[in-house]
Amino acid sequence: MRYKDPDWCEKMRIRFDYNNMMSDMIGKQGISKREIEDIEPRAEKAVLGMAEKRHSMKWRELPYINESVIGDILETSDEIRSRFENFVILGIGGSALGPVAAQQALNHQRYNELNNAARKGPRLYIEDNIDPERMNSLLDIIDVKKSMFNCITKSGGTSETMAQLMIVTGILKQRLNGSFGSNIIATTDANRGSLIKIARDYKLRTFYIPEGVGGRFSELSPVGLLPAAVCGIDIKELLAGAAYMDRLCGESDFRKNPAYMMSVMQLIAMEKGCNISVFMPYSDALKYMSDWYAQLWAESLGKKFDRSGKIVNTGQTPVKALGVTDQHSQIQLYTEGPYDKVVTFLKTDKFRTVVEIPREFEDMKDVSFLGGHTLNELLSAEQAATEYALSKSGHMNNKITLPEVNAFTIGQLIFMLEMATAFAGELLNINAFDQPGVEEGKNAAFALLGRPGYEGKKAELGFAPKKLPDYVI
Ligand code: PA5
Repeated sequence: MRYKDPDWCEKMRIRFDYNNMMSDMIGKQGISKREIEDIEPRAEKAVLGMAEKRHSMKWRELPYINESVIGDILETSDEIRSRFENFVILGIGGSALGPVAAQQALNHQRYNELNNAARKGPRLYIEDNIDPERMNSLLDIIDVKKSMFNCITKSGGTSETMAQLMIVTGILKQRLNGSFGSNIIATTDANRGSLIKIARDYKLRTFYIPEGVGGRFSELSPVGLLPAAVCGIDIKELLAGAAYMDRLCGESDFRKNPAYMMSVMQLIAMEKGCNISVFMPYSDALKYMSDWYAQLWAESLGKKFDRSGKIVNTGQTPVKALGVTDQHSQIQLYTEGPYDKVVTFLKTDKFRTVVEIPREFEDMKDVSFLGGHTLNELLSAEQAATEYALSKSGHMNNKITLPEVNAFTIGQLIFMLEMATAFAGELLNINAFDQPGVEEGKNAAFALLGRPGYEGKKAELGFAPKKLPDYVI
C-alpha cells in the first residue's frame, strides 16, 4: 500500500500552475496582483463558508467512506468478476460520467478488447443515453445471462434510466424464465424514488448513495467505486488520493490552497469577461475527465438566482478539448480569437508507457528530426508549445499536472475539482448543489409521456408558443 508512505504521496502530489493567468506573465489581458487583493474579502468569506458548511456538504466525507461499505463493494466485485462476462451501467449524468472518466484514466485504453486473461474484470459498458440504435447494438453483442446490470440513479426515478431498467428486466425475464434479480444491482438513495422500492420488492442487491450526495458529486461513493472495483481499479488508493487532497484543501489561506486558488482565478477571469472554461487534457487517459468536469462546473454554477433570490444568471461555459487532437481544430480560435476563455491544461509528467519514434526516412530533414524522439516527448513539446502560443497572444491559461496517472492522483484530481466547484459556488453566493434547470426538463418529459401527477405541467406545455411555419425552411 504505497499510499501509506508519506514520501510517495508527496511525490504524487498534483500541482496547479497559474503563472499564465497573471498579467505580469501574459500582459494586460491577464489578472493583476491588485485584482487578487480586491477579491480577498470575498475569498476569505468563501473560505469560512466552506468550513462552516463542511458537514452539510456530505460528499466531503466520501474519502472516509465506511470500511464495511468498502468491504461489501470488494466482495461483490470479486463475485461479479468470477461470474459475469459483462458489467453494464444503466445511468446518466452524474451516475455515469464519473465511472467513464475513472475507467478511461485507470484501465487499459482498449480494455474491452483485451482477452479475458489480460482484462482485470468483465467488459464494461456504460449506457448513458437512450438512443434506440445504441441500446439494440449493445443487446446484439452481449449475452444478457452473462451480464450484470448496475442501475444507478440518485433520484431513483430518472426516466432514461428507468426505461433502460425496464427493457433489461423484460429481456432477462424472457431469458431466465421469469427471474432477473441476480443480474441487476441497484445503486440509489436509501429512502427516495422508485428504484429503491423495486430493489426491495425484488430483493435486488443494493448499494446506497449517501444522503445529501448529489449525482455529480457522487463518484467517490458506490456510484463510482463499484464499477471501478469490478474492473480491477484500486479503490482504496483512489479514496486515499481524495483524502490527501482533502488535507491540502484544509489550508485556510486561499492563496496556498490549490482548489480555492483555481476557483479564484476562474472567477476573476469570468468576471473580466472570460465566460468560457476550456478543459484540455494532453493525455487520452484523462480525456473523459473533461466530460465529468464539464457537468460538475456547468450544472453546479449555471444558476438563475443567488442565495438571496436575486436574479444573477451566472455560470461559466465549460468546453471540452483534447491535446493534441484539438490543436488541429480549435487552437486557432483560442490563440487568435476573442479574449473570452480560460484554457486549463491537464497533463501528466509520466506516461505509463514509452513509444519510440524510429530513425526512418533519414534523407528527409523535415521528417527525420522526429526520429530518435518518443511520442511522449512529442506530446509534451506540443503541450508546451500550445501553452507558449496562448500566453504569447495574451490568452489566459493554467495547468494541472499529475506526476503520473494512477488511482491516487485521480482521487486527488476528482476531489480538487469538486472543492474548486463548491468554492466557486461560495464566491458566487449561489447554491452549487441543486439543478432546477435539469429538473424542469425532467418534469416536462414526464408530462409529455403522461406520468400521473404531471397534468398541470402538461397543461403548461400546451401554452407554449406554437411554432410558426414561416420560421422553418
Ligand atoms: O448531478 C446531478 O444531480 C444530475 O446530473 C444527475 O446525476 C442526473 O440528472 C441523473 O440523475 P439521477 O442520478 O437521479 O438519475
